[in-house]
Amino acid sequence: MSSQREHFSSRLGFILAAAGSAVGIGNLVGFPVNAAKNGGGAFLIIYAIFVVVICLPVMAAELAMGRNTKKGPVGAFGTLSNQHPLWRLAGLIGVITPFMIAVFYTVISVWIIGYLLMAATGQLEYLAADGTFGEFINSPYIFTALVIVAVIIYGILKMGVQKGIEQASKILMPALFVMLIALVTFVLTLDGAMAGVKFYIIPDLSKITATVVNGALSQAFFSLSLGMGILITYGSYLTKDTDIVGSAKFIALADTGVAFIAGLLILPAIFTFNPDVNPAELSESSVSLIFVLLPKIFLALQSSIGFVGASTVATLFFTLVFFAAITSLVSIIEVPVAYLIDEKKHTRGKALVTMAVFAGILTIFSALSFGMVSFFSEFANYGGSTKSFFDVVYDIFYDTVLPLNGLLVCVFVSYRWKKHSLNQELSIGNEKFEGSLMQKYINFSLGTFIPVVLLAIFLNTVAQKFFQTTLF
Ligand code: PHE
Repeated sequence: MSSQREHFSSRLGFILAAAGSAVGIGNLVGFPVNAAKNGGGAFLIIYAIFVVVICLPVMAAELAMGRNTKKGPVGAFGTLSNQHPLWRLAGLIGVITPFMIAVFYTVISVWIIGYLLMAATGQLEYLAADGTFGEFINSPYIFTALVIVAVIIYGILKMGVQKGIEQASKILMPALFVMLIALVTFVLTLDGAMAGVKFYIIPDLSKITATVVNGALSQAFFSLSLGMGILITYGSYLTKDTDIVGSAKFIALADTGVAFIAGLLILPAIFTFNPDVNPAELSESSVSLIFVLLPKIFLALQSSIGFVGASTVATLFFTLVFFAAITSLVSIIEVPVAYLIDEKKHTRGKALVTMAVFAGILTIFSALSFGMVSFFSEFANYGGSTKSFFDVVYDIFYDTVLPLNGLLVCVFVSYRWKKHSLNQELSIGNEKFEGSLMQKYINFSLGTFIPVVLLAIFLNTVAQKFFQTTLF
């Protein structure tokens, strides 16, 4: 079976697919707001340092595990540990995590396509009205939108790695980039835009606290799709002539570049709309920014570019976010799909149907979490408040588990699979790797401070989320 394993057709195809996974809602909205609130340029520098110093080695390790074994997380941890049950468990967490993230990410993608369709059909005024978001997410339309998203994802994944994932990324990613640049160029010409840029870029060291540093690392980690089993799975589709470390650098650069450029869109837009805004007061949540604040900003543009112009900008923006969401969603659903194909010997079609049923049910539970059904809206109680089913999935799988998964990868690669095997794998496709400074750095960091930092972040997040206290 493994000799016929599908693979990416080219290095560029792989890089675009991995960048498609990495570039998501987190980059386009989460990152800019986080940066602006938490020290502007100072945050940007800390974030960039984390990407290089911590995330790059973990990314290389995940890709290497996947390519070496031609398996997803369960198969990779299993094969490289002689099927040790504890390491297989680590692999299993690496499949459950993306499955659960897919559940809530699908819900957000469903809202995005809803907003996209409404903006495109001239309903911008409705989108900008108070109360619309709450109304929309509790309306039956979301089920129609869910079907549309499911059909798109099914269509892409059914076509497989080359014709589906890779081909979709080759179209969506360049389109995303062009739309992003077009929107930034437009927004920067608006009055007051420069105030936003200043807020985004000028460093404010007084804002840098332990919590901000923690937040920057978590943001970088999930922005690069680490700890989700995605890069292990995508690594398993890599051919032996691909330079893993070189590709990882490109992926990190593309992801960070898009996040940075998105800041040049979001902050100027906010400042043009309200020149007196204090970014510190902006909501933490990307969701309220995308669905509540931005529609108001788009509508306000009608005074300068007319209603059609404003609707066009809004439609372009939601298309941009939708493309980013789709390529991320495809990558995350591919992890459990690959698991079913590799470990449970499903055909791709059957694996997709299984996923559609299980993820579909949980997605509907999440979609019902916003007031439609009180069992799901008031699902649990911890950290001092009542949490919906959606919140629970989000808190556990998006916010807490990723650093733990990353930690397991580092420890596994350094002490079980062993560094020389990692080095051997990373040298394939890059003869200069062995003996290089990069090799020494990757070996040293993965075996020492990276797992320590990830453990600290994991424990701190658990303390914050579930026990209302903070360790640092
Ligand atoms: N990097 C993605 C983002 O920034 C994270 C992600 C990847 C989320 C894949 C879901 C699926 O949004």
